[in-house]
Amino acid sequence: MDNKVYIFDTTLRDGEQVPGCQLNTVEKIQVAKALEALGVDIIEAGFPISSPGDFNSVIEISKAVTWPTICALTRAVEKDIDVAVDALKYAKHKRIHTGIGTSDSHIKYKFNSNREEIIERAVKAVKYARRFVDDVEFYAEDAGRTENEYLARVVEAVIKAGATVVNIPDTTGYCLPAEYGAKIKYLVDHVDNIDKAIISTHCHNDLGMATANTMSGLLNGARQCEVTINGIGERAGNTALEEIAMIIRSHSDIDLTTNINTQKIYPTSRMVSSLMNMPVQPNKAIVGRNAFAHSSGIHQDGVLKNITTYEIIDPHDVGIDDNSIVLTARSGRAALKHRLGVLGVQLTAEKLDTVYEEFLKLADKKKDINDDDILMLAGADRTGNHHIKLDFLQVTSGVGVRPVASIGIDIAGEKFEAAATGNGPVDAAINALKQIVKRHMIIKEFTIQSINKGSDDIGKVHMQVEYDGHIYYGFGANTDIVSASVEAYIDCINKFVK
Ligand code: KIV
Ligand code: ZN
Repeated sequence: MDNKVYIFDTTLRDGEQVPGCQLNTVEKIQVAKALEALGVDIIEAGFPISSPGDFNSVIEISKAVTWPTICALTRAVEKDIDVAVDALKYAKHKRIHTGIGTSDSHIKYKFNSNREEIIERAVKAVKYARRFVDDVEFYAEDAGRTENEYLARVVEAVIKAGATVVNIPDTTGYCLPAEYGAKIKYLVDHVDNIDKAIISTHCHNDLGMATANTMSGLLNGARQCEVTINGIGERAGNTALEEIAMIIRSHSDIDLTTNINTQKIYPTSRMVSSLMNMPVQPNKAIVGRNAFAHSSGIHQDGVLKNITTYEIIDPHDVGIDDNSIVLTARSGRAALKHRLGVLGVQLTAEKLDTVYEEFLKLADKKKDINDDDILMLAGADRTGNHHIKLDFLQVTSGVGVRPVASIGIDIAGEKFEAAATGNGPVDAAINALKQIVKRHMIIKEFTIQSINKGSDDIGKVHMQVEYDGHIYYGFGANTDIVSASVEAYIDCINKFVK
Protein backbone atom coordinates (compact mmCIF):
# COMPACT_ATOMS: atom_id res chain seq x y z
CA MET A 1 0.00 0.00 0.00
CA ASP A 2 1.23 3.49 -0.86
CA ASN A 3 2.55 5.31 2.22
CA LYS A 4 1.50 8.82 1.17
CA VAL A 5 -1.25 10.32 3.33
CA TYR A 6 -3.39 12.92 1.56
CA ILE A 7 -4.09 15.92 3.76
CA PHE A 8 -7.63 17.20 3.24
CA ASP A 9 -8.08 20.51 5.03
CA THR A 10 -11.60 21.50 6.05
CA THR A 11 -10.77 24.65 8.05
CA LEU A 12 -12.83 26.68 5.59
CA ARG A 13 -15.85 24.38 5.75
CA ASP A 14 -16.16 22.33 8.97
CA GLY A 15 -13.90 24.79 10.84
CA GLU A 16 -15.76 27.81 9.64
CA GLN A 17 -19.07 26.43 10.93
CA VAL A 18 -18.03 27.48 14.45
CA PRO A 19 -20.28 30.32 15.65
CA GLY A 20 -18.39 33.61 15.58
CA CYS A 21 -15.57 32.27 13.34
CA GLN A 22 -17.02 33.26 9.98
CA LEU A 23 -14.60 34.75 7.46
CA ASN A 24 -15.34 36.95 4.50
CA THR A 25 -14.22 35.89 1.02
CA VAL A 26 -11.00 37.94 1.11
CA GLU A 27 -9.98 36.33 4.38
CA LYS A 28 -10.87 32.87 3.08
CA ILE A 29 -8.61 33.43 0.07
CA GLN A 30 -5.82 34.45 2.44
CA VAL A 31 -6.27 31.19 4.39
CA ALA A 32 -6.54 29.11 1.19
CA LYS A 33 -3.26 30.53 -0.11
CA ALA A 34 -1.58 29.78 3.21
CA LEU A 35 -2.93 26.21 3.04
CA GLU A 36 -1.52 25.86 -0.48
CA ALA A 37 1.90 27.06 0.74
CA LEU A 38 1.64 24.64 3.66
CA GLY A 39 1.27 21.79 1.17
CA VAL A 40 -2.25 20.51 1.76
CA ASP A 41 -3.51 18.24 -1.00
CA ILE A 42 -7.21 19.08 -0.87
CA ILE A 43 -8.93 22.24 0.36
CA GLU A 44 -12.60 21.91 1.26
CA ALA A 45 -13.61 25.44 0.34
CA GLY A 46 -17.25 25.44 1.39
CA PHE A 47 -20.79 24.14 1.08
CA PRO A 48 -21.97 26.15 -1.97
CA ILE A 49 -25.72 25.64 -1.65
CA SER A 50 -25.72 26.75 1.99
CA SER A 51 -25.36 30.48 1.24
CA PRO A 52 -24.38 32.92 -1.52
CA GLY A 53 -21.28 33.74 0.58
CA ASP A 54 -20.15 30.10 0.55
CA PHE A 55 -20.87 29.81 -3.16
CA ASN A 56 -18.82 32.91 -3.91
CA SER A 57 -15.95 31.79 -1.69
CA VAL A 58 -15.66 28.48 -3.56
CA ILE A 59 -15.52 30.43 -6.84
CA GLU A 60 -12.87 32.86 -5.62
CA ILE A 61 -10.73 30.23 -3.88
CA SER A 62 -10.83 28.14 -7.07
CA LYS A 63 -9.41 31.11 -8.97
CA ALA A 64 -6.78 31.96 -6.35
CA VAL A 65 -5.28 28.53 -5.73
CA THR A 66 -3.39 26.36 -8.23
CA TRP A 67 -2.04 23.09 -6.82
CA PRO A 68 -4.49 21.69 -4.30
CA THR A 69 -7.74 20.06 -5.34
CA ILE A 70 -10.68 22.29 -4.45
CA CYS A 71 -13.54 20.40 -2.89
CA ALA A 72 -17.17 21.49 -2.41
CA LEU A 73 -19.57 19.82 0.01
CA THR A 74 -23.10 18.74 -0.91
CA ARG A 75 -25.89 16.63 0.48
CA ALA A 76 -26.93 13.63 -1.63
CA VAL A 77 -29.28 15.96 -3.50
CA GLU A 78 -29.09 16.82 -7.21
CA LYS A 79 -29.69 20.54 -6.69
CA ASP A 80 -26.78 20.71 -4.21
CA ILE A 81 -24.55 18.97 -6.73
CA ASP A 82 -25.60 21.32 -9.55
CA VAL A 83 -24.71 24.35 -7.42
CA ALA A 84 -21.38 22.80 -6.37
CA VAL A 85 -20.49 22.07 -10.01
CA ASP A 86 -21.17 25.70 -10.86
CA ALA A 87 -19.10 26.96 -7.90
CA LEU A 88 -16.17 24.74 -8.92
CA LYS A 89 -16.09 25.91 -12.53
CA TYR A 90 -12.73 27.74 -12.18
CA ALA A 91 -10.95 25.05 -10.13
CA LYS A 92 -7.92 23.50 -11.82
CA HIS A 93 -8.48 20.27 -9.88
CA LYS A 94 -11.97 19.75 -8.52
CA ARG A 95 -13.80 17.35 -6.25
CA ILE A 96 -17.41 17.01 -5.16
CA HIS A 97 -17.93 15.71 -1.63
CA THR A 98 -21.41 14.26 -1.40
CA GLY A 99 -23.00 12.00 1.16
CA ILE A 100 -25.78 10.98 3.51
CA GLY A 101 -26.23 9.72 7.08
CA THR A 102 -25.86 5.95 7.38
CA SER A 103 -26.31 5.23 11.11
CA ASP A 104 -29.67 3.82 12.20
CA SER A 105 -30.28 7.00 14.14
CA HIS A 106 -29.76 9.21 11.06
CA ILE A 107 -31.75 6.87 8.80
CA LYS A 108 -34.73 6.82 11.18
CA TYR A 109 -34.78 10.33 12.64
CA LYS A 110 -33.20 12.48 9.95
CA PHE A 111 -34.53 10.76 6.86
CA ASN A 112 -37.47 8.70 8.11
CA SER A 113 -36.15 6.09 5.69
CA ASN A 114 -34.64 2.62 5.62
CA ARG A 115 -31.22 1.15 4.88
CA GLU A 116 -31.96 0.07 1.29
CA GLU A 117 -33.37 3.44 0.31
CA ILE A 118 -30.30 5.20 1.78
CA ILE A 119 -28.00 3.04 -0.40
CA GLU A 120 -30.11 3.95 -3.44
CA ARG A 121 -29.89 7.67 -2.65
CA ALA A 122 -26.14 7.45 -2.05
CA VAL A 123 -25.53 5.62 -5.34
CA LYS A 124 -27.73 8.04 -7.26
CA ALA A 125 -25.89 11.07 -5.87
CA VAL A 126 -22.45 9.65 -6.66
CA LYS A 127 -23.48 8.70 -10.20
CA TYR A 128 -24.99 12.15 -10.71
CA ALA A 129 -21.83 13.91 -9.43
CA ARG A 130 -19.64 11.72 -11.67
CA ARG A 131 -21.47 13.15 -14.69
CA PHE A 132 -19.69 16.45 -13.99
CA VAL A 133 -16.38 15.63 -12.26
CA ASP A 134 -13.95 12.71 -12.19
CA ASP A 135 -13.17 13.04 -8.52
CA VAL A 136 -16.13 12.29 -6.23
CA GLU A 137 -15.80 11.72 -2.51
CA PHE A 138 -18.65 10.07 -0.64
CA TYR A 139 -19.20 10.62 3.10
CA ALA A 140 -21.20 8.18 5.20
CA GLU A 141 -22.27 10.62 7.88
CA ASP A 142 -22.15 9.16 11.41
CA ALA A 143 -20.16 6.19 10.10
CA GLY A 144 -18.65 6.00 13.60
CA ARG A 145 -21.99 4.69 14.86
CA THR A 146 -22.93 2.78 11.72
CA GLU A 147 -22.87 -1.01 11.94
CA ASN A 148 -19.79 -2.24 10.05
CA GLU A 149 -21.58 -4.79 7.86
CA TYR A 150 -24.05 -2.22 6.55
CA LEU A 151 -21.30 0.41 6.19
CA ALA A 152 -19.33 -2.04 4.03
CA ARG A 153 -22.37 -2.48 1.76
CA VAL A 154 -22.75 1.29 1.41
CA VAL A 155 -19.05 1.75 0.66
CA GLU A 156 -19.01 -1.04 -1.92
CA ALA A 157 -22.08 0.39 -3.66
CA VAL A 158 -20.76 3.96 -3.87
CA ILE A 159 -17.35 2.83 -5.15
CA LYS A 160 -19.17 0.82 -7.82
CA ALA A 161 -21.12 3.99 -8.66
CA GLY A 162 -17.86 5.89 -9.18
CA ALA A 163 -16.70 7.29 -5.81
CA THR A 164 -12.93 7.83 -5.82
CA VAL A 165 -12.67 8.53 -2.08
CA VAL A 166 -14.83 7.11 0.72
CA ASN A 167 -15.01 9.19 3.86
CA ILE A 168 -15.80 7.44 7.15
CA PRO A 169 -16.68 10.27 9.55
CA ASP A 170 -16.88 9.80 13.27
CA THR A 171 -19.36 12.67 13.19
CA THR A 172 -20.15 12.62 16.91
CA GLY A 173 -16.60 11.91 18.12
CA TYR A 174 -17.85 8.76 19.86
CA CYS A 175 -15.48 6.01 18.69
CA LEU A 176 -12.57 4.64 20.67
CA PRO A 177 -9.28 4.56 18.73
CA ALA A 178 -9.19 0.76 18.53
CA GLU A 179 -12.83 0.67 17.46
CA TYR A 180 -12.32 3.29 14.74
CA GLY A 181 -9.18 1.53 13.47
CA ALA A 182 -11.05 -1.79 13.42
CA LYS A 183 -13.83 -0.15 11.38
CA ILE A 184 -11.32 0.96 8.72
CA LYS A 185 -9.71 -2.47 8.73
CA TYR A 186 -13.13 -4.09 8.37
CA LEU A 187 -13.70 -2.07 5.21
CA VAL A 188 -10.24 -2.93 3.86
CA ASP A 189 -10.93 -6.63 4.48
CA HIS A 190 -14.59 -6.86 3.44
CA VAL A 191 -15.21 -4.42 0.60
CA ASP A 192 -14.29 -6.21 -2.64
CA ASN A 193 -13.61 -3.06 -4.69
CA ILE A 194 -11.89 -1.09 -1.89
CA ASP A 195 -8.66 -0.90 -3.95
CA LYS A 196 -10.53 1.40 -6.38
CA ALA A 197 -10.91 4.18 -3.79
CA ILE A 198 -8.99 5.95 -1.05
CA ILE A 199 -10.40 5.63 2.46
CA SER A 200 -10.60 8.91 4.36
CA THR A 201 -10.86 9.63 8.08
CA HIS A 202 -12.91 12.54 9.43
CA CYS A 203 -12.86 12.56 13.23
CA HIS A 204 -14.48 14.96 15.66
CA ASN A 205 -13.04 15.64 19.07
CA ASP A 206 -16.05 15.42 21.39
CA LEU A 207 -14.28 12.96 23.69
CA GLY A 208 -10.78 14.27 22.98
CA MET A 209 -9.93 11.33 20.71
CA ALA A 210 -9.95 12.91 17.23
CA THR A 211 -6.19 12.72 16.65
CA ALA A 212 -5.89 9.23 18.16
CA ASN A 213 -8.79 8.01 16.03
CA THR A 214 -7.34 9.54 12.87
CA MET A 215 -3.98 7.89 13.50
CA SER A 216 -5.70 4.59 14.19
CA GLY A 217 -7.55 4.94 10.88
CA LEU A 218 -4.32 5.67 9.00
CA LEU A 219 -2.51 2.77 10.63
CA ASN A 220 -5.31 0.49 9.48
CA GLY A 221 -5.34 1.52 5.84
CA ALA A 222 -6.89 4.97 5.43
CA ARG A 223 -4.75 7.20 3.20
CA GLN A 224 -6.54 10.52 3.49
CA CYS A 225 -7.34 12.43 6.67
CA GLU A 226 -9.69 15.38 7.06
CA VAL A 227 -8.28 17.95 9.42
CA THR A 228 -8.38 21.63 10.37
CA ILE A 229 -5.77 24.14 11.47
CA ASN A 230 -5.67 24.32 15.28
CA GLY A 231 -8.32 21.57 15.35
CA ILE A 232 -11.13 24.10 15.02
CA GLY A 233 -14.57 22.86 14.08
CA GLU A 234 -18.10 22.11 15.26
CA ARG A 235 -18.43 21.64 19.05
CA ALA A 236 -15.08 20.30 20.36
CA GLY A 237 -13.57 20.55 16.89
CA ASN A 238 -11.93 18.32 14.30
CA THR A 239 -8.58 16.57 14.15
CA ALA A 240 -5.76 19.14 14.16
CA LEU A 241 -3.70 19.17 10.94
CA GLU A 242 -0.52 20.11 12.80
CA GLU A 243 -0.81 17.14 15.15
CA ILE A 244 -1.18 14.56 12.37
CA ALA A 245 1.61 16.15 10.28
CA MET A 246 4.01 16.14 13.22
CA ILE A 247 3.08 12.65 14.43
CA ILE A 248 3.81 11.30 10.95
CA ARG A 249 7.04 13.27 10.71
CA SER A 250 8.26 12.33 14.20
CA HIS A 251 7.44 8.62 13.90
CA SER A 252 9.59 7.29 11.09
CA ASP A 253 8.69 3.85 12.49
CA ILE A 254 5.17 4.03 11.03
CA ASP A 255 6.44 4.69 7.51
CA LEU A 256 3.86 7.26 6.37
CA THR A 257 4.52 10.57 4.64
CA THR A 258 2.64 13.80 3.91
CA ASN A 259 3.28 16.72 1.62
CA ILE A 260 3.18 19.21 4.52
CA ASN A 261 5.95 21.80 4.74
CA THR A 262 6.05 21.69 8.54
CA GLN A 263 7.91 25.00 8.83
CA LYS A 264 4.74 26.75 7.70
CA ILE A 265 2.66 25.21 10.48
CA TYR A 266 3.13 27.89 13.12
CA PRO A 267 2.56 30.94 10.87
CA THR A 268 -0.55 29.28 9.42
CA SER A 269 -1.85 28.51 12.89
CA ARG A 270 -1.35 32.14 13.97
CA MET A 271 -3.06 33.43 10.83
CA VAL A 272 -6.15 31.23 11.27
CA SER A 273 -6.39 32.05 14.96
CA SER A 274 -6.12 35.75 14.28
CA LEU A 275 -8.54 35.91 11.34
CA MET A 276 -11.13 33.76 13.09
CA ASN A 277 -10.67 35.51 16.44
CA MET A 278 -10.25 32.05 17.90
CA PRO A 279 -7.50 31.88 20.53
CA VAL A 280 -5.29 28.78 20.64
CA GLN A 281 -5.22 27.22 24.10
CA PRO A 282 -1.74 27.76 25.62
CA ASN A 283 -1.12 24.03 26.14
CA LYS A 284 -2.30 23.03 22.65
CA ALA A 285 0.04 20.40 21.13
CA ILE A 286 2.49 21.77 18.53
CA VAL A 287 1.14 25.34 18.26
CA GLY A 288 0.19 26.37 21.82
CA ARG A 289 2.20 29.13 23.49
CA ASN A 290 3.56 26.64 26.05
CA ALA A 291 4.12 23.73 23.67
CA PHE A 292 7.88 24.19 23.85
CA ALA A 293 8.20 26.04 27.17
CA HIS A 294 10.03 24.02 29.80
CA SER A 295 9.32 25.50 33.20
CA SER A 296 10.09 22.86 35.82
CA GLY A 297 13.66 22.87 37.20
CA ILE A 298 14.27 19.22 36.33
CA HIS A 299 13.17 19.72 32.73
CA GLN A 300 15.14 22.93 32.29
CA ASP A 301 18.25 21.24 33.66
CA GLY A 302 17.83 18.33 31.22
CA VAL A 303 17.12 20.56 28.23
CA LEU A 304 20.22 22.66 28.96
CA LYS A 305 22.38 19.51 29.08
CA ASN A 306 20.87 18.07 25.92
CA ILE A 307 17.73 19.32 24.20
CA THR A 308 16.56 15.80 23.28
CA THR A 309 16.07 14.86 26.95
CA TYR A 310 12.65 16.50 27.00
CA GLU A 311 12.01 17.81 23.48
CA ILE A 312 10.86 15.45 20.73
CA ILE A 313 10.31 18.21 18.15
CA ASP A 314 12.64 21.04 17.23
CA PRO A 315 10.42 24.19 17.39
CA HIS A 316 12.12 25.43 14.19
CA ASP A 317 10.65 22.42 12.37
CA VAL A 318 7.17 23.85 12.90
CA GLY A 319 8.24 27.38 12.01
CA ILE A 320 8.64 28.86 15.48
CA ASP A 321 11.14 31.59 14.97
CA ASP A 322 13.01 32.69 18.14
CA ASN A 323 14.48 35.61 16.30
CA SER A 324 11.16 36.98 15.16
CA ILE A 325 11.66 40.68 14.57
CA VAL A 326 9.80 43.00 16.88
CA LEU A 327 8.63 46.07 15.00
CA THR A 328 8.49 49.53 16.53
CA ALA A 329 7.20 52.98 15.60
CA ARG A 330 10.40 53.50 13.59
CA SER A 331 9.82 50.45 11.37
CA GLY A 332 8.95 51.30 7.81
CA ARG A 333 6.30 49.97 5.48
CA ALA A 334 8.85 47.58 3.91
CA ALA A 335 9.64 45.97 7.28
CA LEU A 336 5.94 45.51 7.96
CA LYS A 337 5.41 44.03 4.49
CA HIS A 338 8.36 41.68 4.98
CA ARG A 339 7.14 40.46 8.37
CA LEU A 340 3.62 39.92 7.02
CA GLY A 341 5.13 37.93 4.16
CA VAL A 342 7.00 35.68 6.61
CA LEU A 343 3.68 35.13 8.37
CA GLY A 344 2.11 34.13 5.07
CA VAL A 345 0.04 37.30 4.57
CA GLN A 346 0.25 39.06 1.19
CA LEU A 347 -1.59 42.37 1.03
CA THR A 348 -2.44 44.65 -1.85
CA ALA A 349 -0.59 48.00 -1.82
CA GLU A 350 -3.82 49.73 -0.79
CA LYS A 351 -4.53 47.39 2.13
CA LEU A 352 -0.88 47.59 3.20
CA ASP A 353 -1.24 51.37 3.45
CA THR A 354 -4.29 51.03 5.70
CA VAL A 355 -2.62 48.40 7.87
CA TYR A 356 0.53 50.54 8.09
CA GLU A 357 -1.51 53.52 9.30
CA GLU A 358 -3.11 51.35 11.99
CA PHE A 359 0.33 49.96 12.81
CA LEU A 360 1.70 53.47 13.44
CA LYS A 361 -1.26 54.31 15.67
CA LEU A 362 -0.68 51.14 17.68
CA ALA A 363 3.08 51.73 17.85
CA ASP A 364 2.31 55.08 19.46
CA LYS A 365 0.59 53.28 22.30
CA LYS A 366 2.71 50.12 22.49
CA LYS A 367 6.51 50.06 22.27
CA ASP A 368 7.08 46.66 20.66
CA ILE A 369 4.72 45.31 18.03
CA ASN A 370 4.90 41.52 17.69
CA ASP A 371 3.55 38.96 15.23
CA ASP A 372 0.18 38.59 16.95
CA ASP A 373 -0.36 42.34 16.89
CA ILE A 374 0.52 42.50 13.19
CA LEU A 375 -1.78 39.62 12.33
CA MET A 376 -4.56 41.29 14.28
CA LEU A 377 -4.06 44.52 12.32
CA ALA A 378 -3.94 42.69 8.99
CA GLY A 379 -6.99 40.63 9.83
CA ALA A 380 -10.64 41.36 9.50
CA ASP A 381 -11.53 44.89 8.51
CA ARG A 382 -13.93 45.12 11.38
CA THR A 383 -15.18 48.67 11.03
CA GLY A 384 -14.85 49.50 7.33
CA ASN A 385 -18.45 48.80 6.32
CA HIS A 386 -20.00 49.27 9.75
CA HIS A 387 -23.24 51.19 9.84
CA ILE A 388 -22.60 52.24 13.46
CA LYS A 389 -19.12 53.45 14.47
CA LEU A 390 -17.52 54.61 17.68
CA ASP A 391 -16.47 58.27 17.40
CA PHE A 392 -15.16 58.89 20.92
CA LEU A 393 -15.34 57.46 24.38
CA GLN A 394 -14.37 59.05 27.66
CA VAL A 395 -14.61 57.16 30.93
CA THR A 396 -13.84 58.15 34.50
CA SER A 397 -13.50 55.38 37.03
CA GLY A 398 -11.49 54.50 40.09
CA VAL A 399 -11.82 53.84 43.78
CA GLY A 400 -14.42 55.92 45.64
CA VAL A 401 -16.04 57.36 42.50
CA ARG A 402 -19.06 56.21 40.52
CA PRO A 403 -17.84 55.31 37.00
CA VAL A 404 -19.22 57.62 34.35
CA ALA A 405 -18.87 57.46 30.55
CA SER A 406 -19.64 59.80 27.70
CA ILE A 407 -19.77 58.40 24.22
CA GLY A 408 -20.05 59.67 20.66
CA ILE A 409 -21.48 57.45 17.95
CA ASP A 410 -21.71 57.82 14.20
CA ILE A 411 -24.77 56.14 12.69
CA ALA A 412 -24.52 56.21 8.90
CA GLY A 413 -22.93 59.67 9.02
CA GLU A 414 -25.21 61.16 11.71
CA LYS A 415 -23.61 62.01 15.07
CA PHE A 416 -25.09 61.14 18.50
CA GLU A 417 -23.78 61.65 22.03
CA ALA A 418 -24.83 60.34 25.46
CA ALA A 419 -23.51 59.92 29.00
CA ALA A 420 -24.29 57.39 31.73
CA THR A 421 -23.02 55.85 34.93
CA GLY A 422 -22.56 52.17 35.74
CA ASN A 423 -21.12 49.78 38.29
CA GLY A 424 -17.82 49.78 36.39
CA PRO A 425 -16.30 51.54 33.36
CA VAL A 426 -17.56 48.97 30.84
CA ASP A 427 -21.06 49.04 32.31
CA ALA A 428 -21.09 52.85 32.22
CA ALA A 429 -19.92 52.93 28.58
CA ILE A 430 -22.47 50.35 27.47
CA ASN A 431 -25.26 52.12 29.37
CA ALA A 432 -24.36 55.32 27.53
CA LEU A 433 -24.38 53.48 24.21
CA LYS A 434 -27.77 51.92 24.98
CA GLN A 435 -29.25 55.41 25.36
CA ILE A 436 -28.44 56.01 21.69
CA VAL A 437 -29.08 52.56 20.26
CA LYS A 438 -32.33 51.66 21.93
CA ARG A 439 -32.38 47.89 21.47
CA HIS A 440 -32.98 45.27 24.12
CA MET A 441 -29.79 43.24 23.91
CA ILE A 442 -28.62 40.76 26.53
CA ILE A 443 -24.90 40.04 26.85
CA LYS A 444 -24.59 36.26 27.06
CA GLU A 445 -20.81 35.95 26.99
CA PHE A 446 -18.04 38.47 27.49
CA THR A 447 -14.33 37.63 27.63
CA ILE A 448 -11.34 39.96 27.76
CA GLN A 449 -7.97 38.47 26.93
CA SER A 450 -4.51 39.87 26.46
CA ILE A 451 -2.54 38.56 23.47
CA ASN A 452 0.88 38.43 25.05
CA LYS A 453 2.35 39.78 28.23
CA GLY A 454 2.85 43.25 29.62
CA SER A 455 0.51 45.95 30.83
CA ASP A 456 0.81 47.72 27.46
CA ASP A 457 -0.67 44.73 25.63
CA ILE A 458 -3.73 44.71 23.39
CA GLY A 459 -6.92 43.41 25.00
CA LYS A 460 -9.09 41.22 22.77
CA VAL A 461 -12.78 41.12 23.61
CA HIS A 462 -15.19 38.43 22.44
CA MET A 463 -18.83 39.12 23.04
CA GLN A 464 -22.01 37.20 22.43
CA VAL A 465 -25.34 39.02 22.67
CA GLU A 466 -28.92 37.90 22.31
CA TYR A 467 -31.25 40.16 20.38
CA ASP A 468 -34.72 39.34 19.14
CA GLY A 469 -34.24 35.62 19.77
CA HIS A 470 -30.94 35.43 17.85
CA ILE A 471 -27.33 35.23 18.99
CA TYR A 472 -24.75 37.63 17.52
CA TYR A 473 -20.98 37.58 17.96
CA GLY A 474 -18.76 40.63 18.21
CA PHE A 475 -15.06 41.26 18.51
CA GLY A 476 -12.98 44.23 19.64
CA ALA A 477 -9.24 44.77 20.10
CA ASN A 478 -7.62 47.78 21.69
CA THR A 479 -4.93 48.66 24.20
CA ASP A 480 -7.82 50.23 26.14
CA ILE A 481 -10.00 47.34 27.28
CA VAL A 482 -13.08 49.52 27.87
CA SER A 483 -12.86 50.71 24.26
CA ALA A 484 -12.30 47.12 23.09
CA SER A 485 -15.46 46.08 24.98
CA VAL A 486 -17.52 48.86 23.41
CA GLU A 487 -16.09 47.98 19.96
CA ALA A 488 -17.19 44.36 20.47
CA TYR A 489 -20.68 45.47 21.51
CA ILE A 490 -20.93 47.76 18.48
CA ASP A 491 -19.67 44.90 16.27
CA CYS A 492 -22.60 42.80 17.53
CA ILE A 493 -25.09 45.60 16.77
CA ASN A 494 -23.69 45.96 13.26
CA LYS A 495 -24.51 42.31 12.64
CA PHE A 496 -28.24 42.97 12.83
CA VAL A 497 -28.56 46.69 11.99
CA LYS A 498 -27.96 47.20 8.31
O1 KIV B 1 -18.74 15.36 10.55
C1 KIV B 1 -19.24 15.00 9.46
O2 KIV B 1 -19.85 13.95 9.33
C2 KIV B 1 -19.09 15.92 8.34
C3 KIV B 1 -19.52 15.42 7.00
C4 KIV B 1 -20.37 16.43 6.32
C5 KIV B 1 -18.32 15.05 6.19
O3 KIV B 1 -18.58 17.02 8.49
ZN1 ZN C 1 -17.42 17.07 10.37
